This record gives sequence, structure tokens and C-alpha cells, in this order.
Amino acid sequence: MQSISVVGLGFIGLPLAISFCEKGFRVYGIEVDTAKLDWLKRGVSYVQEDDQGIPLDKYLQKHLQQETFIPTDRMEEAAKAVDTYVVTVGVPVSGTGDMVYDYLDSAMQNIGSVLKKGDFILLRPTVVPGMIEERLIPQLERVSGLKAGADFHVAYAAERVAEGRAMEEFRTLDVVAGGLTPACTERAVQLLQQLTSGTVHVTDLRTAQLAKVVENVQRDVNLAIINELRQVAEAHHVDIYELIRMTNTHPRVQLLMPSVGVGGFCIPNAYYYLRASVDNPHMMPLYDTARRVNSDVPNQLVKDAATALAASGRSLQGAPVAILGLGMKDGSNDTRLSPPVDLAKVFISSGAHVRAYDPTIAEHSFPFQVESPEVCLDGAQVLVVGAWQPPFEALPWRQLLEKTNRPYIIDPRHRLKGYLS
Ligand SMILES: NC(=O)c1ccc[n+]([C@@H]2O[C@H](COP(=O)([O-])OP(=O)(O)OC[C@H]3O[C@@H](n4cnc5c(N)ncnc54)[C@H](O)[C@@H]3O)[C@@H](O)[C@H]2O)c1
Repeated sequence: MQSISVVGLGFIGLPLAISFCEKGFRVYGIEVDTAKLDWLKRGVSYVQEDDQGIPLDKYLQKHLQQETFIPTDRMEEAAKAVDTYVVTVGVPVSGTGDMVYDYLDSAMQNIGSVLKKGDFILLRPTVVPGMIEERLIPQLERVSGLKAGADFHVAYAAERVAEGRAMEEFRTLDVVAGGLTPACTERAVQLLQQLTSGTVHVTDLRTAQLAKVVENVQRDVNLAIINELRQVAEAHHVDIYELIRMTNTHPRVQLLMPSVGVGGFCIPNAYYYLRASVDNPHMMPLYDTARRVNSDVPNQLVKDAATALAASGRSLQGAPVAILGLGMKDGSNDTRLSPPVDLAKVFISSGAHVRAYDPTIAEHSFPFQVESPEVCLDGAQVLVVGAWQPPFEALPWRQLLEKTNRPYIIDPRHRLKGYLS
């Protein structure tokens, strides 16, 4: 049985580690957060994923029992058994748009300290293009005293999966891989081909890093088109959904659907990574604008709600606002850079009284969270469907909606349309 280490057991690393286990690998999962390790050792997943109707917890418990998944914070323990490290530790972006390199730097130092000749490091986080050659490899070399490309191999293959469908997509999606040398690339191809039935597309290291951020920036731009179109449609008093349907009958047009904002760890951060990788600050005016348009969506939605309430003689000041689902998108319990959370904050700063319900997110994660849909919806004058969570499917919506008070509804994906009279 081949043993590997997956470093970082977050939203991506945990389902990735378990997906390797399912492919017959023994995986040493390295995680520095001891609270997460405690959950894992008890067989409880903090990441909401399932595969073929089976929740991640069940896979986790199976592989703990079979000792094919070994969660630990001890890199030395893994180093004795593995020659391959798959790194999923990311680079957060601060509120001021600066990169927080500390986590990935420390992962490099930990790996560097146990690195042996012949080892292979496959990096999978989204990164500032160029930082692998300029920042990460020099750290590995300095700490290990070994030479990249000669003594050990390094390659990059960004993770492309979507939270909520991660395990299926690890198995099926094409990936782009680029190594420091052809031999490094070959190690990446050999490993990835054991995980995915998709194609492993081979390129150079820099193109591989750029390809990932460009994929996300392209989505940012496409989503900005729709978020801007919302106001254009309103100005013409036309239904944006009808407009999108008609426009998409053109074979070369593919407009996306509106949303409550563009968030999550991936799309907004990719813009900042790309921006940090170029010297000229004026090089990307279109991408700058798209990011600005998308990050302004919560403000626009709150403004629209205030206007709608005023039209019916009401005020946002003190108005009960119900938000259903706080994940960064449907089916996700990740609240980092989450549009529904941003929306809640803008409503609160506009004087509204926000109550949010999301059974997939730990209680008391936010001061405006409430424990039941009844409390959330009671008297609501504004109703927002932020992220549609799997447990919502079973709720008695018709009955619950009777608790609201003629609400202005923000439900861009029409989740509640069938229940509204
Ligand atoms: N979340 C997504 O949907 C998604 C999709 C595609 C790509 N990605 C990329 O994948 C990467 C990981 O994202 P994520 O959402 O899993 O992040 P995450 O924050 O959930 O996971 C990172 C994990 O690494 C751990 N960690 C930090 N420092 C460590 C160290 N030195 N050693 C071991 N573990 C350490 C953290 O405690 C955390 O559990 C990011 O670059 C992200 O951009 C994410």
C-alpha cells in the first residue's frame, strides 16, 4: 500500500485525504489545529461533504478504523512512512488585501525539516503566481539543505473542486500540473492519475500557477456582468431571469444567474493573488472593476430592500430581517468571505434587526444567529435566502412563511418561489 501525507486538513485537505484513502492509499493527514485533530480522531467531520449519498463522516470513520487515515500534528511521524507530501494549506488575504503567507511558510518549514532525498512535494493551494519558485522552493531548500529538482521533486497542480461536490470532483475533474523539472512534472502526473479519471494537462510551473487564478478571475468577471445587469434590468422594468433566458438562447452566450454576492475563499482571493503578482497597478482595470462590482452587491441589495420597504410605508430602521443560510454558497458550511454574512453586517449597520438561521454552522458563530427557522422568520419584513442548505429541503416552508410580515424577498435562485402565494 502506498503511503502519502496530506498537509492541511481544511475544507479541501480533509476530503482530499479521504479521497486518496478511497483510492487505496494510506494517508498521514497533517493538521496544526488541535481542535480539528480532536474532531477527526473521534470520527467527526467539520467539513460538510458527502459522496454518492454517504456523508464524509462515514468515510472518515471507515478509514480511521482500517488505519488507512492517520490524522496527526507530527510531521516526523509521517516522514518515516512517506515520500510524498500533498500540500493544501492556503494563503488568506487580509482585510487590506495583503497576503498572509505565515501558514504556508510554516508548512514549508515543517516539511523542509523532515525532507529526504527522493521526496516529492505536490502543492495544491491557489497561490500568488511565481511564489512557488520565488518563495516556497527556496524555503524548502534552506531548511532541508537539499536541492529542488535534483535531490527532491516539486510540482504544482491547483485544486479546482467546488465545496459540497469535492469528493466527486477529485475523482473526475481534469487538472493542470506543472513541475520544476520534467521529472517533477512526471511525479505529479503519476500521482494525480491515480486520483482522477480526468485528464492531467501538463504545462510549466508558472503557467500552472497562473491558470488557476485566471480561472477564478474569469468567474469574477462573468459574475460581475450579471450583478451589474440586475440594475440595468430594473431600470428597464424587465425581469432579469426572463432577460437571461432569452439572451442565453444565443449559442455563444452563457450568462450566469444572479446571487447575493461573490464570495468564498477562492474567487475574491484569486484577484488579489493576481494583482500581487504584477508590478504595474494599472494592468487590470477590468478585473479591478469586476471585483469592486461584486463586493458591492450586499450594499446594493440592502439599498434595494430599503427602497422597497419605504415604498410600502416602512423603514429598514429596526425592521426584522431574516437570513436563511450563512455559508459562502449553497450547500457549504464555510463562512469565510461569505456573502450572506456580509449582507447581514450591512443590514445591521443600516439599523435593521437581523436574525439568521443555518443549521450547518456551529451555534453562536455569529451574534445574529438564531436556533430555529421559526425565530428567524418571525415578523420578518425582509427575507433573504443566502445559502440553500441540505436540511432546508425538509422544512415546512408554507407554514414557516406565514410567520413573516409581507416581506421584501431576496431569493436570487428562487428557492422559495414554489411556496410563496
Ligand atoms: N475551499 C474551496 O472551495 C477551494 C476550492 C479550490 C481550491 N481551494 C484552495 O485550497 C487551499 C485550501 O483551502 P481550504 O478551503 O481547504 O482552506 P482551510 O483554511 O480550510 O484549510 C487549510 C488547513 O491547513 C491547516 N494548516 C495551517 N497551517 C498548517 C501547517 N503549517 N501544517 C499543516 N496544516 C496547516 C489549517 O489549520 C486548515 O485546517 C486554498 O489555497 C484555497 O484557495 C479551495
